[in-house]
Amino acid sequence: MSKIIAICNQKGGVGKTTTSINLGIGLARKNKKVLLVDFDPQGNATQGLGYDADALEKTVTTIIRKMINKDYTFEKDFGILHHEEGIDLLPANIDLAVIETELISLFFGRETILKNYFDRIREEYDYIIIDCMPSLNLITINALVAADQVIIPLHAQYYSVRGLEQLFQTIGSIISNGLNPSLKIAGILYTCVNDRTNSFRGIHNILENAYGQDIHIFKNYIPRSVKAEEAPSYGQSIYTYDQSGKVSMAYRGFTDELILLDEERG
Ligand SMILES: Nc1ncnc2c1ncn2[C@@H]1O[C@H](COP(=O)(O)OP(=O)(O)OP(=O)(O)O)[C@@H](O)[C@H]1O
Ligand SMILES: [Mg+2]
Repeated sequence: MSKIIAICNQKGGVGKTTTSINLGIGLARKNKKVLLVDFDPQGNATQGLGYDADALEKTVTTIIRKMINKDYTFEKDFGILHHEEGIDLLPANIDLAVIETELISLFFGRETILKNYFDRIREEYDYIIIDCMPSLNLITINALVAADQVIIPLHAQYYSVRGLEQLFQTIGSIISNGLNPSLKIAGILYTCVNDRTNSFRGIHNILENAYGQDIHIFKNYIPRSVKAEEAPSYGQSIYTYDQSGKVSMAYRGFTDELILLDEERG
């Protein structure tokens, strides 16, 4: 049975896309069949894997629109690109920005459109990873309703922590109102860490005290590195761009930790 993971935080620039790409390719390197879904009109996951997002005619928007129109005649691999590093990508571009209005205008099932699509294709994959946009709008709600688990990338900074409560409330209401009763938080992943600063330790202690009992905080955190910033402009994962660098090692460790957690949690 495939696992569907939403990489989500409504705060911008916290490493959602970087984590989606490098977790996705990390899993593919372990012989897992992975689909990465770019679910952000910025199209960063699409661009970061080397595609010209604006030139693409078939994207996740095309799929969502077909699902809205109950047009189920498409093939399972419709719109899906095959990246040379071993993952499949359902790309996105700016066209996705208008989809929210189309979803809102639906009388019934506006939150479950992406889930209904995954129900048709999920058996093809071991993992489906959704790179969410920096907003808790209806597009992101579709991702959270479709997911089995959420990973929350976080900058270990004071202002980042404040947004977490709102994200937890949204996840909590998706669980309690029955839209996705089995949704789990896989954990919080620190990204862009400079572990020589006291603030990292300070924020970690605050989070550990506030949430550590209920929410896993990944032991493998991602350090800040210029290489991580450069890799997307080459359309490459960190494993290819900087094979033995610290970010590459960290994403490897994080991928292993996630697989182990999944095995423990069953
Ligand atoms: N470990 C890292 N070290 C240095 N720079 C990083 C690291 N991880 C991500 N970045 C850079 O930080 C910026 C934001 O990262 P990313 O695009 O992954 O965040 P995001 O949460 O997806 O942003 P958005 O909310 O806009 O979708 C990018 O320029 C990215 O290259
Ligand atoms: Mg992003």
